[in-house]
Amino acid sequence: MTHVNYAARFPAARPRRLRQAEWTRRLVREHSLSRDDLIWALIVHDGAAARIPVSSMPGIERLNIDEAVKAAETARALGVPALAVFPHIDAAKKDNDGREATNPRGLVPQVVAAIKSAVPEVGLMVDVALDPFTDHGHDGVLREGVIVNDESVARLVEQALVLADAGADIIAPSDMMDGRIGAIRNALESAAKPDVLIMSYAAKYASAFYGPYRDAIGSAKALQGDKKTYQMDPANTDEALKEVALDIAEGADMVMVKPGLAYLDIIRRVKERFALPTFAFQVSGEYAMIKAAAQSGWIDEERAILETLTAFKRAGCDGIITYFAPRAAALIG
Ligand code: PBG
Repeated sequence: MTHVNYAARFPAARPRRLRQAEWTRRLVREHSLSRDDLIWALIVHDGAAARIPVSSMPGIERLNIDEAVKAAETARALGVPALAVFPHIDAAKKDNDGREATNPRGLVPQVVAAIKSAVPEVGLMVDVALDPFTDHGHDGVLREGVIVNDESVARLVEQALVLADAGADIIAPSDMMDGRIGAIRNALESAAKPDVLIMSYAAKYASAFYGPYRDAIGSAKALQGDKKTYQMDPANTDEALKEVALDIAEGADMVMVKPGLAYLDIIRRVKERFALPTFAFQVSGEYAMIKAAAQSGWIDEERAILETLTAFKRAGCDGIITYFAPRAAALIG
């Protein structure tokens, strides 16, 4: 930041002069949101129904593979650069070790292959974590009440390779195990996949705002306990810088802060310190709050969408993962 000397005093200085009309507000606007900034978060499912509404996220539906391909076509038409897919898995396929996560014929690899063959120009990001696939709802391997780090990392590496093989463009580990970025990067290099991008969920907090998502992917009822031994304490900021530094050193191309709106200070510090592509996830709870208030007639939904997304840009984000992406892209025009 440059030093600003406000020498002028009222009435020489009248800040309202610059706000008097839309044309001058546009001229002096410091930050702008573009469709290029958006990654569309999509929920997919392995059932037959085309679309199943998610009750805690009005307007969001779990999509089957055909509908996910249509969504990718919509993304292309709207100019949204990338999609992030999150799976809802049939409870019968879940087990203690999340074995379905590494099934090459599983739901996510199928969705990835279908989208990449129909709409190759849209970037495709996939979550690496075991929680959609475990019967206990945790992101890693559970042994005697403990999420064991290194065994989890080995499973996550396998999952990442399966997803890269299916054609995923961006591997996004959301599990918060230590050392997973380096392990996945090494495995991708060994598998002759040097161009696969990694966006790490680098500073991911143990947050109340994931509630609706756990309902959307069907892990809410399953989750035993909480995720505080691996996700970050919401009270910490220096620790976020340590997490980001490690992930960059291990081979992340892009980093993410999650959730979004409650963590704008973290985004700002990360962007200033590392000057690398920095993203925020406007998570399910943030989506649900805006929807619920708008449905009650308490806030203007469209303005709230654009205002919150602009806040991420102002804080220093290069882009935002959001369930509002198609709405926002249409609103931006
Ligand atoms: C889990 C994962 C979560 C989200 C993305 N990946 C939730 C969690 O950590 O329990 C949250 C997304 C959202 O709330 O929209 N690996």
